Amino acid sequence: MKTIKDIPISGLRVLIRVDFNVPLDSQQQILDDARINAVLPTIQYALSQSARIILASHLGRPKGEVRMQYSLGPVASRLSQILGMDVVLAPDCIGAETRSLVDELQDGSVLLLENLRFHAEEQQNDAEFAKALAGLCDVYINDAFGVSHRANASVEAVTSFAPTVAAGLLLKKELDFFETAMQKPVRPLVAIVGGAKVSSKLAALKNMLQHVDQIILGGAMANTFISAAGYSVGRSMFEVDLVPTAAALIDQAKKRDVQFYMPVDVVAAKQLDPQADLKKVPIQAIPPEWLAADIGPATACLYSEVLQDAGTIIWNGPMGVFEMEPFSHGTFDLARAVAASQAVSIIGGGETGSAVNLAGVADQMTYISTGGGAFLTLMEGKQLVAVAALNRNSVPPTDS
Ligand code: 3PG
Repeated sequence: MKTIKDIPISGLRVLIRVDFNVPLDSQQQILDDARINAVLPTIQYALSQSARIILASHLGRPKGEVRMQYSLGPVASRLSQILGMDVVLAPDCIGAETRSLVDELQDGSVLLLENLRFHAEEQQNDAEFAKALAGLCDVYINDAFGVSHRANASVEAVTSFAPTVAAGLLLKKELDFFETAMQKPVRPLVAIVGGAKVSSKLAALKNMLQHVDQIILGGAMANTFISAAGYSVGRSMFEVDLVPTAAALIDQAKKRDVQFYMPVDVVAAKQLDPQADLKKVPIQAIPPEWLAADIGPATACLYSEVLQDAGTIIWNGPMGVFEMEPFSHGTFDLARAVAASQAVSIIGGGETGSAVNLAGVADQMTYISTGGGAFLTLMEGKQLVAVAALNRNSVPPTDS
């Protein structure tokens, strides 16, 4: 894959699509700037080459309307602090005013365009909108891994119109980590799959079954498997129509010699409420009016034993409702077990990344992805649409 380092950018207008979709509080304060820090290597490289840098991103889901709570203003300020230089925020991402700000750019300066999703055309992958973006630059760089599973104009259509296109250093790093883990893993390769719904993880589970040695299940999605094993899950969330599919997956795992681990006990609560009565029960004894909100201590212990001997771990989805303290222990115990193992550990972004952060072990993971949906798409064995577009429209690097 051709990267920003394989092409001349010195003195050129370089449009770098980044994913600055950071969480903000009600006062527009940035709660976590990991996504900003993750693209600094690309920005700093472009600065070292005296490029004229134009950054473009979405933030939130403003649905094609200018809604100032989704402005990239707070990001411009934070980036300016981090880089120790002015980062000008353009009033829009296209249009005459933005054009003149681009024309005024000096070598080694940075302009941030306003939220791409203030235009509905962005998510419609609109060709005219993509052309207008491409028209701002000499070189287009995609460093927005987190949104590269979306056919959006600024990551997909734009690659057909920009004069030269290549990947940023973060995009390359994300893809390399994932590919190495899947193609040349240190074995045993373990997938931990959790989260609320089997339906949203089904494709990932099916694909993982082809590659891994062990699968560990948790979260509300495990309830569907508990049901498939013939036990009642009480009032727990589960997907009744997917019970046969869950049973078939367990069978496939057996046929492929994949060790398939599901919870042996759960933390059951009367309500999904931190104040509710709760008890730890084997999966065989979930009371009819109760619901499972976390894996139990016996399961956490079992899973930790499996992880001790892992060579590579890929983790997507929490083990329980970790945002509520009484139901956070399973996810946090698992995070500590991953941290304690010698394995290469690759953590999906989104809520799995937050859980690992909250458990205080983020720095002990080999790699935490900046993508939630994009990471899951890779786990499904699919190519990211924006990466396919980039590859189609870029010339591979030469050896010289
Ligand atoms: C993310 O946060 O996963 C990416 O920025 C993509 O955002 P989206 O789900 O709103 O497209």
